[in-house]
Amino acid sequence: SSGVRRRADGEVEVAGVPVSELAAAHGTPAYVLDEADFRARARAYRTAFESAFAEVGAGVDVYYAGKALLTVAVARWATQEGLRVDTASGGELAVALRAGVPGAAIGLHGNNKSDAEILAALDAGVGRLIVDSLVEIERVADLAASRGVVAPVMVRVTTGVHAGGHEYISTAHEDQKFGLSVNAGPDGGTSPALAALEAVVARPELDLLGIHSHIGSQILEPSGFEAAARVVLQLRADLATRTGALVEEVDLGGGYGIAYLPGEEPLEPAPVAVSVAQAVAAVSRELGTPLPRFSIEPGRAVVGPAGLTLYTVGTVKPVTVSAPAEDPGAGATFTRLYVSVDGGMSDNIRPALYGADYHAEVVGRASAAGTVLARVVGKHCESGDVVVHEVMLPADVRAGDLLAVPATGAYGRSMASNYNGLTRPPVVAVADGASRVLVRRETLEDLLGLDLG
Ligand code: LLP
Repeated sequence: SSGVRRRADGEVEVAGVPVSELAAAHGTPAYVLDEADFRARARAYRTAFESAFAEVGAGVDVYYAGKALLTVAVARWATQEGLRVDTASGGELAVALRAGVPGAAIGLHGNNKSDAEILAALDAGVGRLIVDSLVEIERVADLAASRGVVAPVMVRVTTGVHAGGHEYISTAHEDQKFGLSVNAGPDGGTSPALAALEAVVARPELDLLGIHSHIGSQILEPSGFEAAARVVLQLRADLATRTGALVEEVDLGGGYGIAYLPGEEPLEPAPVAVSVAQAVAAVSRELGTPLPRFSIEPGRAVVGPAGLTLYTVGTVKPVTVSAPAEDPGAGATFTRLYVSVDGGMSDNIRPALYGADYHAEVVGRASAAGTVLARVVGKHCESGDVVVHEVMLPADVRAGDLLAVPATGAYGRSMASNYNGLTRPPVVAVADGASRVLVRRETLEDLLGLDLG
């Protein structure tokens, strides 16, 4: 994160606090969040999109996607920076409400919302429910009727635009569970997306706010957003032609990519905002429809780079490896240093789940030694338990060293587990030279307390 400095003595500071102090005060593993960096990224997204869309005459709302990391304090930071909060379940909704986020500034997603989740959202007066199927449209309408309210809804559509770094996190292709396709089926009739929009229009208990599309994650160039916007605006025009209803809002989802490794280029908010705003203005002119209000839902881009994970090194083991037959140096052997840390796939499942790459550094001390090829692994009973596949570390890396893995703010704590009975690490915020625990470390009592014997 931008508040991270390495001192000449090798100590690394986050927002003015040495990581050695953080480790001593809070233990390891620990998720460390740079509050000012989170706030700056939230602001950067809001101001970049607000000014680019104002330029073409459209309004925009930025929702922070809480699935990346949602705690009460994080929800407050997002709100204080002028963002709304996007939730993916009743649990995330409860955290946002506990934080005091006004219901009107909350959205609720989910392809399989329970009645209890829908009712909780209606009772909280959420600003929008994003509906994902015909059956859900009828269910939300019935539940709204039972409460005597009108539910504000957006329909999630799939535009056929694929984007993102990995198959499992590209959610816009057709053969997957999310959304309703804008393409007609084999019979060539009405598309599922249009049918769903018409179903919403037909129910007086529903207020059709607009159309939602999310094209994928960790996207590093703007063309996918432009292509999706074009498809959604066309669908909006088609709906208007057929029913007279010109929906007011279009959401383009999240997916803004970040740098995970040194030297990688993130998607910067300002240029993507400008190119998307200009594309939607051009398409709206072509279609002869007034511009809708837009919204976006970045998660990773706001919180990912603001977080790092601190681990303590334990076992260090050199392993002799033969280069595989297909490699140029086939048969030659080399040594890979396996550096084990006190966490692993339970605090960051992304390397094991997606083959995600991270960087790691020994922090808290300087080293005059050269570097060696290392693999950082966790302490789980599973050989795929990798934290960093490949990284150069000081040759004298040893038990007791502190290791920092940057860019773990998103989808680390939020996808953490208790695999092998590990307790989930705390989330520690650092600001203005002081640290504060946002979510405490789990204890064995927490784990045992759930087990009723
Ligand atoms: N909006 C919707 C409807 C989404 O489905 C998602 C992510 C987002 C917003 C936020 O996307 P972001 O800006 O954070 O990329 N667990 C995976 C990512 C799955 C994301 C699913 N949806 C990972 O660790 O990479």
